[in-house]
Amino acid sequence: MGKVVRFALSIEKELFQKFERYIKENKFPNRSYAIRNIMRDFLVKIEWKSNKPVAGVITLVYNHKKRELVVNLMSIQHKFHHIISSTGHIHLDEYNCLEIIIVRGKSNLIKKLYLALKSTKGVKHTSITVSTTKEKLP
Ligand code: NI
Repeated sequence: MGKVVRFALSIEKELFQKFERYIKENKFPNRSYAIRNIMRDFLVKIEWKSNKPVAGVITLVYNHKKRELVVNLMSIQHKFHHIISSTGHIHLDEYNCLEIIIVRGKSNLIKKLYLALKSTKGVKHTSITVSTTKEKLP
């Protein structure tokens, strides 16, 4: 941790009480820890919205028996090979596969890849999680 700054905060009692419940439910060790966490989430959201470089994971669930679907998903991934760092695949059952695609790049490109995969006919479920690429997030 870099140099620490202390600051006071004035907020409505009801908001404070909700925040205290949030801290308890999420088992944060203290308020400062929780606030730092929320601020970092906020900074990542700004990076995501302003086409800054981010890193993330896209998850897909699909039926591998649908050959055209598998070919389409592969074609899309090859088009975006420069932002795909790694992929992983597990066979959920006889038909369904879960694939993770680890991405790193400008957020607009990652959004394009995600939407292309998500809108591919036959994909059953998709999700995306993004984080920062910065080694030292303040
Ligand atoms: Ni599989």
